[in-house]
Amino acid sequence: MLGPVILAASRSDRMRRLISAAPVTKQVVDRFIPGETVDEIVPVVRELTGRGLELTMDVVGEDITRPEQAAAARDAYLELIDRLEKLELGTRAEMSVKLSMFGQALEDGHELALKNVRPVVEAAAAIGTTVTLDAEDHTTLDSMFAIHEELRKDHPQTGCVIQAYLFRTEADARRLAAVGSRVRLVKGAYKEPTEVAYQQKHEIDKAYVRILKVLMEGDGYPMIGSHDPRLISIAQELARRAGRKLDEYEFQMLYGIRSDEHLRLAAEGHRMRVYTAYGTDWYGYFMRRLAEKPANLLFFARSTLTK
Ligand code: FDA
Repeated sequence: MLGPVILAASRSDRMRRLISAAPVTKQVVDRFIPGETVDEIVPVVRELTGRGLELTMDVVGEDITRPEQAAAARDAYLELIDRLEKLELGTRAEMSVKLSMFGQALEDGHELALKNVRPVVEAAAAIGTTVTLDAEDHTTLDSMFAIHEELRKDHPQTGCVIQAYLFRTEADARRLAAVGSRVRLVKGAYKEPTEVAYQQKHEIDKAYVRILKVLMEGDGYPMIGSHDPRLISIAQELARRAGRKLDEYEFQMLYGIRSDEHLRLAAEGHRMRVYTAYGTDWYGYFMRRLAEKPANLLFFARSTLTK
């Protein structure tokens, strides 16, 4: 029951100000966001890739309100890509971006987000890697898919995310499961109304399996974004039935969640990509991690109160 309340708080400016100013210990935020600057994140990149993991890098931030912030987001990714070039990781470190951070919700936001994200996709391609467009709340998705399609004209490897909790997603998956596409399937992390999304865990899980089947049987490259042990073994079975080799799909998990499982899957020969977020605007990302597992809230409250 706490999850929806925390998700509502994740979009509240008042709560953002309160929680961001609270004596949240660095330790709590660091568990999910292991750095605020490029200098802090580069050693993390080295360490994780050194352990055989692949990465998708996220500069945290979303729901910006001024065009200058969108340009700053673009520049933050360009700086990151510049640093990654020296590490020569290629596709072992790709980027994940939220279009709301690139101006999607501002006036003429669709064009603005496309204008700001394009140089990031081009810079990523220039160092031999790629970008995946994260999925935000359902009102943003038509624009996200249109931008995805536009970017794929020059950079077909550009990926996107689909969310199992939305009724629309099975149809999106059928459209996207084509040669050369890279699609990350997740359960979905936003507070969505009953008109557009399943609300119950068992319904979302069932939808996840249905959609994963579409992706596995299709011609694209499925990226399984989940920590759910049951879904992970179902994914392995579906991949086997579809005749996919280990390099024809991948698992993805968030930094700080089930880290032993990251290493276990990598050791089994799976491609295991860790979504690694960094930056100072961590509020929305952090609150969604609390909402996914309200027990995290206890850890958060205890650390805050003991400060
Ligand atoms: P579920 O929530 O059922 O969790 C399964 C188990 O994982 C839990 O029992 C627990 O052990 C562990 N776990 C999960 N979340 C945890 C947490 N926060 N803290 C501690 N333990 C936790 N969503 C979205 O809407 N748009 C997006 O673009 C993305 N992108 C994305 C990328 C990647 C790589 C991942 C893994 C996830 C996303 N998500 C996302 C988030 C996703 O929608 C979903 O909210 C989380 O992955 C949690 O769902 P699970 O599938 O892990 O299952």
